[in-house]
Amino acid sequence: MTVLKAVLNRDSIRRYSDKPVDRETLLTCLEAARLAPSAENSQPWRFIVLTDSDIKTRFGKNVFTGIYKTSQFVLKAPAILVLCADLDFTANRMGKLFTGIPFYLLDVGMAGEHFALQAAEMGLGTCWIGWFNMKKAHKALKLPKKIRICAMMAVGYPTQDWRLKPHKRKKLEDIVHWNGW
Ligand SMILES: Cc1cc2nc3c(=O)[nH]c(=O)nc-3n(C[C@H](O)[C@H](O)[C@H](O)COP(=O)(O)O)c2cc1C
Repeated sequence: MTVLKAVLNRDSIRRYSDKPVDRETLLTCLEAARLAPSAENSQPWRFIVLTDSDIKTRFGKNVFTGIYKTSQFVLKAPAILVLCADLDFTANRMGKLFTGIPFYLLDVGMAGEHFALQAAEMGLGTCWIGWFNMKKAHKALKLPKKIRICAMMAVGYPTQDWRLKPHKRKKLEDIVHWNGW
């Protein structure tokens, strides 16, 4: 599969079949994430993979309730990837200080998309999740202060009726400026 084909194949999947995702498959996707680039190769990403259904249910009761209820579909996914960053890195602190850019978000974002593309190649569906109760998620996972949750990702095989639709995106001419704004 070419990179562009994998990109075209990746879709946000919100309905999952009951087919479990085996650990080897998850490990292959995590390996793709591990190989992502990062500022000063700081590799601030940390991944928590929730696959146990009791743990997921308990987690969901804390994290996907109230205004975050719309994210409850995540609990139907066989795996939930929690994408975290260890903020205790010089590259991250210096980057933010001098450029104002929190590099760790770029780093974790790239690692996550590596994961998603590898998952797509293996027939898995994923959905990035930014809509969840951050404070409760941090507490439920008993994370140390220096670990920040950046996003989550639902992971599982799409239901059989899933068909790939063209991605709705802005046209290149609306987003690209050659040789200056
Ligand atoms: C950082 C981020 C957070 C997102 N959060 C959610 C979310 O909380 N719930 C959801 O259903 N989709 C979420 N999405 C998925 C987007 O809605 C989706 O990527 C976008 O609509 C484009 O559709 P596509 O991924 O199918 O191409 C998120 C995507 C990103 C990148």
